[in-house]
Amino acid sequence: MKMQMIAAMPGDIAPARRLEAETGLPLVEIDIHAFPDGESLVRAPGAAETVIVYCSLDRPNQKLVELGLAVSALRDLGARRLVLVAPYLCYMRQDKAFHEGEAVAQRFIGALLAGWFDRVVTIEPHLHRVKSLDDVMPGTETAALSAADLLAQMILADGAPEEALLVGPDAESRAWTAAVAKATGAPFIVLQKERSGDREVEISLPKDADIKGRRIYLVDDIISTGATLAAAARLLRAGGAGRVEAVAVHAFFSEADEKTMKEAGLARVRSTDSVAHRTNAAAVAPLLAKALKEDRR
Ligand code: R5P
Repeated sequence: MKMQMIAAMPGDIAPARRLEAETGLPLVEIDIHAFPDGESLVRAPGAAETVIVYCSLDRPNQKLVELGLAVSALRDLGARRLVLVAPYLCYMRQDKAFHEGEAVAQRFIGALLAGWFDRVVTIEPHLHRVKSLDDVMPGTETAALSAADLLAQMILADGAPEEALLVGPDAESRAWTAAVAKATGAPFIVLQKERSGDREVEISLPKDADIKGRRIYLVDDIISTGATLAAAARLLRAGGAGRVEAVAVHAFFSEADEKTMKEAGLARVRSTDSVAHRTNAAAVAPLLAKALKEDRR
């Protein structure tokens, strides 16, 4: 039996191939047959002592069941150590019951994945009140990687314009906006956000913000509906900012959302390939490969 291999879930073949190229590890593709009644037949074509399962968990509800079945198949084939590479880790935002009766999704999903995997590697998980992924997945090794350098490289590729100003759209974005600002050498500010619905957000500028004529790079971890960035772009353009664009780690938004963002004044959006999206402009494979190399087992 081989020592290590990558097993890619069907939706992750392309980025897993990039990880294969970075690591030199062999790759197998997990095969899934969809039964007419909606159930799935999951088959692993082989295993190794350590299997790195590549499965980004955007649109996760079906993926989670199929991932669990893949884990079961790999263990049956003799895999001893399973490492999940999930560049996007789902359900991390619901970290408490905001209203009585709500499931704490972060705790549930964390425990589920911790039961399946010996190590979980992800990028910029949306942690808020819980500070460490170790607390979300007790008993499992975790690596929560920063994508700050990848986002910084996108900005630096524009020649690090002097008038650049990095803008975090809400208080939660402060940490990653500060990290990207440090890596680019550009200044940054953080806006204030009030959310009243899935697509209803209100954004305001801090009192002393000087945005006139600045080239704005909005920096966010997730673009889901794009409502946050659309509201931010509208506000910044109305306040006299120059070109407004965005860099983000995980992009999910639809073409209709993109149109709304464009109309709001957002000139361009670039994202990493943590989730396959037409705005992908940077590969996360080198970042993941480095984290896997640091896994001494
Ligand atoms: C919020 O806490 C996140 O950092 C993002 O700003 C948010 O998830 C974006 O969502 P949307 O694109 O739907 O406004």
